[in-house]
Amino acid sequence: MYFTAPRNDENPTVRPLARAPEADPAFRADVLRGLAQTQKAVPARWFYDMRGSQLFEAITQVPEYYPTRTETALLQAHCPAVAERIGSDATVVEFGSGSSIKTRILLKSMPRATYVPIDICGEFLDEACAALQGLFPALRIVPVEANFMNPVHLPLRQDGEARSMLGFFPGSTIGNLTPEAAVDLLRSMRETLGTNAHLLIGIDRVKDPQRLTAAYDDAQGVTALFNLNLLQRINRELGGSIPVGEFRHVSRWNPLASRVEMHLEARRAIRFEVDGQPFRMEGGETIHTENCHKYRPGEMRVLLAASGWRELEHWTDSQGDFSLILAKADGARQEP
Ligand code: AVJ
Repeated sequence: MYFTAPRNDENPTVRPLARAPEADPAFRADVLRGLAQTQKAVPARWFYDMRGSQLFEAITQVPEYYPTRTETALLQAHCPAVAERIGSDATVVEFGSGSSIKTRILLKSMPRATYVPIDICGEFLDEACAALQGLFPALRIVPVEANFMNPVHLPLRQDGEARSMLGFFPGSTIGNLTPEAAVDLLRSMRETLGTNAHLLIGIDRVKDPQRLTAAYDDAQGVTALFNLNLLQRINRELGGSIPVGEFRHVSRWNPLASRVEMHLEARRAIRFEVDGQPFRMEGGETIHTENCHKYRPGEMRVLLAASGWRELEHWTDSQGDFSLILAKADGARQEP
């Protein structure tokens, strides 16, 4: 089970009704803090409960959401070259592994790899690992249930010298962070992976704002369900009374910050409670739920360089929609 947070209450029979027993304390803290802000906001990582993870997989299938299928084609074309460069027995550490579908493409070129998937949703992680093990019976899988935004301890034997490390961070997940936070994360990945590591990262590019906003507001309404599921999760796990039907999904391009923003907009003035605390919103007021930063190729190079990664390869599709980059940890000791 995912929710293994220890219970603080001495006597579970007198726990206040408003407090759900399995609530993750970090989720509660983020939601209560975020809803108290002038611009209400909840961090995007809380989208990914079981249903949210499933809805995200459904998003990757809608016609407007081009990143997944574009990146998949790039991986198919270039993973053999990556494997050749790094060695087919490397340790692949994936940050936010989800369904591990893209990983299959990489591992097909690296049959003797060790795979370390890191994901915040333990239930989803178990399912993904079982499916992957079925496809690659000889693969050594070491799953880690963790929030990869924090430094992660890798439960590997200390024989790291021999095997090369490859960080795998596809899907433009880096875009969820502000550029400043992205540099912090890329630096901490470099710490986690070591000085001789490589990083294979997918980053979405700046393009026509209409295509960008449509990618986050598909006609079938799957992205809307994904966004609204966050409110249902708050109600269920944090004893909330949010009237989910009074909210509208919004996707908007913020040109100054170079990002698509997702919001949940209240259709009218409302009041609700979360974890026993009262909140109110005006009609038209929003809860900011996600940022998806988009970069130009030169900006990606700068982002990586600022975090100690040197770009070795930069691949893109024929339309220049998406970037797949292979980078190397730029250690103090340069190779001759
Ligand atoms: C998983 C963070 C890469 O930003 O494109 C998709 C998440 N949100 N549609 C993205 C997402 C709405 C996705 N990432």
